[in-house]
Order: sequence, then structure tokens, then C-alpha cells
Amino acid sequence: MSIHIGAEQGQIADKILLPGDPLRAKFIAEHFLEDAVCFNEVRGMLGYTGTYKGHRVSVMGTGMGMPSISIYANELITSYGVKKLIRVGTAGSVNKDVHVRDLVLAQAAGTTSSMIKNEWPQYDFPQIADFDLLDKAYHIAKDLKLTAHVGSVLSIDAFYSDFADNNIKLGQLGIKALEMEAAALYYLAAKHGVQALGIMTISDSLVNDEDTTAEERQTTFTDMMKVGLETLIA
Ligand code: HPA
Repeated sequence: MSIHIGAEQGQIADKILLPGDPLRAKFIAEHFLEDAVCFNEVRGMLGYTGTYKGHRVSVMGTGMGMPSISIYANELITSYGVKKLIRVGTAGSVNKDVHVRDLVLAQAAGTTSSMIKNEWPQYDFPQIADFDLLDKAYHIAKDLKLTAHVGSVLSIDAFYSDFADNNIKLGQLGIKALEMEAAALYYLAAKHGVQALGIMTISDSLVNDEDTTAEERQTTFTDMMKVGLETLIA
């Protein structure tokens, strides 16, 4: 057991899907995995291992923000030997061409956080997705006829910000969307020599006036989970 994960050694697969919301982890386990067994309930951060199309796969919540995902990613990698980590989350579009319900495959993640800077104050190096996972996810999304944008996201620390006026400029600089976890996940994957990717569905637009129904949101989340799972086993 690690500090925040109550699983025994061997209970977690070497491939994992990481939604922010632990109840989405439960949803994925119940709807996509066979013979899913819960391996963690510590702090309600539900985690399950089962099989997807015959492959052993895990899914676990991460909570919101870089400190939270960092705790779980660190322990999954260093205590349980996880090698492929795919975040499946939501993001707010800052790009006029990126619409609610589209997918964003985060090729790179910038950040407003000082977490990485605290470890490497003299460098500002890019946090990038694993190319093999990115390439696979892109082709899987295309095969499923989903709209998938590949580009950079910004992992921000504050969901509620006084700098909303910058959103349009961020989009003009090529940022697709804002979210809160990818940069930390990419950094930890690089640090430990494992593979990571962030797949986000756009839940809201910060630059277009767009709406989505709860049912539409559920469908796109389900599509994203399919892309994530197919990528993990490809
Ligand atoms: N900002 C940051 N993270 C998010 C957003 C947002 O607007 N929407 C979903 N995750």
C-alpha cells in the first residue's frame, strides 16, 4: 500500500485511465470493464481493475488540480509500476475553432503552476505527451469519426480567475483549452520514464457562447472513454 492508495501489490494494471472525478472511474468500470474489482476507497478516490477486450486495465480518479493528480500519479508509477497513464477529463475551450463536445488531445501542456518550476527553477522546459499514445489516440478518434484537435493546453491552478480577459489571446496564441492537470502528469511521466497522454472533452467554451445538454455531455464523455481505453490497449 502507498500513502494514498490502499491497493495491494499486483492489484493495479500497468495501464490506467485517469478521470478527475472518482465517480467517473466507477462509471467506466461499470460500463466498460469486465470483472472490475475496486482497489481503492481511500479518501473516496475510487480505483478499479478489470479487463477491456481481454486486456487488464485500471481506472482511478485523480481529483482536481496538479497537486492532487501528482500525488496519485507518483504513487501509481513508483509504488505500483504503472507504465501508461491516460487522463480523461474536461477542459474549457479558449479557441474559437474548438467547440463544446470536441475532443482535445493535449500534445503539450503549459502551466501557470509553480510546481515544476519549484523543482527546476532555472529551466522552463516543455511538458509533452507521449508521441506513441498521441498518435494512436488521434487515429482511433478519427476512426470513430470524432472531432479531435491536437495542440497545446494550459494547465491552470485557479479555476476561478481574474484574468478571463486573457482567454481570447491564449486562443490566438494556439492554446486549445484550459484544464488543470495535464502538465503535472506529463512532467511526472517524463521524470519516471513512463508514457502519458491527456484527452479532454470540451465541457464549456470561454470564448464562444455555446451550450450542451447533460445527455450530450454524457455521450461525449463516453466517446472519450472509448478513445482512452482503445489507446491503452492498442
Ligand atoms: N477552466 C479550467 N478547467 C476546466 C474548465 C475551465 O473552464 N472547464 C473544465 N475544466
